Amino acid sequence: MNKFKILIIDDEAKICELLKEILDAEGYETDTALNGADGFEKIKKDNIDLILLDIKLPDIDGITLLKKIKKNFSDVSVIMISAFGTVQLAVESLKSGAEDFLEKPLETTRVLITIKNVLEKYILRKERNLYKKELLKGYEIIGRSEGIKKVLDLIKKIGPTNSEVLILGETGTGKELVARNLHIMSERAGAPFIKVNCAALPGELIESELFGYEKGAFTGAFRRKLGQFELAHRGTIFLDEIGDMPLSAQAKVLRAIEDKEIGRLGGTRSLKIDVRVITATNQDLNHLIKEKKFREDLFHRINVLKIELPPLRQRKEDIRILAEYFLRVACMDNNCPLKHITKKAYKFLENYSWPGNVRELKHLMNKIVILIDENRIDITHIKKLIKKERASDMSQFKEAKQDFERRHIISALEKSEWHIGKAAKILGIDRSTLFRKMKRFGIKR
Ligand SMILES: Nc1ncnc2c1ncn2[C@@H]1O[C@H](COP(=O)(O)OP(=O)(O)OP(=O)(O)O)[C@@H](O)[C@H]1O
Ligand SMILES: [Mg+2]
Repeated sequence: MNKFKILIIDDEAKICELLKEILDAEGYETDTALNGADGFEKIKKDNIDLILLDIKLPDIDGITLLKKIKKNFSDVSVIMISAFGTVQLAVESLKSGAEDFLEKPLETTRVLITIKNVLEKYILRKERNLYKKELLKGYEIIGRSEGIKKVLDLIKKIGPTNSEVLILGETGTGKELVARNLHIMSERAGAPFIKVNCAALPGELIESELFGYEKGAFTGAFRRKLGQFELAHRGTIFLDEIGDMPLSAQAKVLRAIEDKEIGRLGGTRSLKIDVRVITATNQDLNHLIKEKKFREDLFHRINVLKIELPPLRQRKEDIRILAEYFLRVACMDNNCPLKHITKKAYKFLENYSWPGNVRELKHLMNKIVILIDENRIDITHIKKLIKKERASDMSQFKEAKQDFERRHIISALEKSEWHIGKAAKILGIDRSTLFRKMKRFGIKR
């Protein structure tokens, strides 16, 4: 078994010796220090798992040293020891990051039990950190600008809470990435993260998508379907492009958040759900509220905490590190030797406006790796690729949206055996609209 390393910091040599003897006998690896400075040096050099720290030391007071240790080595566990055990000292120790508190005179059994308990928690914490690191792979947020630092700081603070979060930012600034990070930082990390793109779902479909339906709820509902809220139970639901959500669905979403209950369409029961709601949009919700396209009460409910992602052109210092990062990943993914971008080309990238933000930069780096044979990437290569990218971006999005709608209509028609009236009912539109859409998409039996 892996031996835990315990460091005893106490100015009484006798106590150090006694504790060392007891802990060695229990199979722990132990070391001692008679003052704070010596102790801190040992923590820096050795991989210490647990520290028994006396509150009164000759060179520094224990609480100050405790804070210093936790600031520099947040993983290590600390148990405070004191002869003057008062409630205040115990509370202060725990507040400053100590795991537990032992009073002198030390009693062997109590010492051993306390250490065992603290180490158990220590193992759990280590495992959880490892697991989180694993989950975060591929979701790292790169950048060193003030804007990104602020975002990272907010994620650290807000992530572990249960609060609703509204993420704002232009397209491609990393809203989804931030939502995933919030989920991974929370206790919900092991449960599902469900993303719903409200803009890609036609209005008539969104409610059944979010809340599910019972068999027979409408023509074509051949079996029960679970909604995304239900699937996200104990986890997080990420409502992307919330500004595009139809008003009728908004009312239901508001109720789901407030009551923590949902009902499947055509069902009679309401189901308790435990879901954290994270939303994102690149639209101005205040403007939509004025236009009566977005409910003000829903806005207040989702806007408990807000994270705003600055556009890439406003954080030029991130452009180069992001480009290097994406280029390295793309080269590795494509098994090609590492390419490098010239200084001049970097200057150009830094001064470009990036309307598609980080996503545009990422795509550009992928294209460089796939389309350019040379290893030295110059300004001319980049200019050529950027031009092409801009032209194809918008049309791709429109195509995807239309394709979705087309497939949705065909499936409704198939379900109703091409009965126009029934299909229109499934889709929640009238017959003439369905005819028009079929004509536009060239749908024929
Ligand atoms: N700071 C960052 N570090 C690393 N990768 C990033 C960063 N920001 C964004 N990305 C990457 O850029 C791409 C776009 O990010 P994401 O999908 O989160 O943007 P978005 O704001 O949700 O965009 P949209 O509004 O178009 O949906 C993703 O591949 C994401 O991983
Ligand atoms: Mg997105």
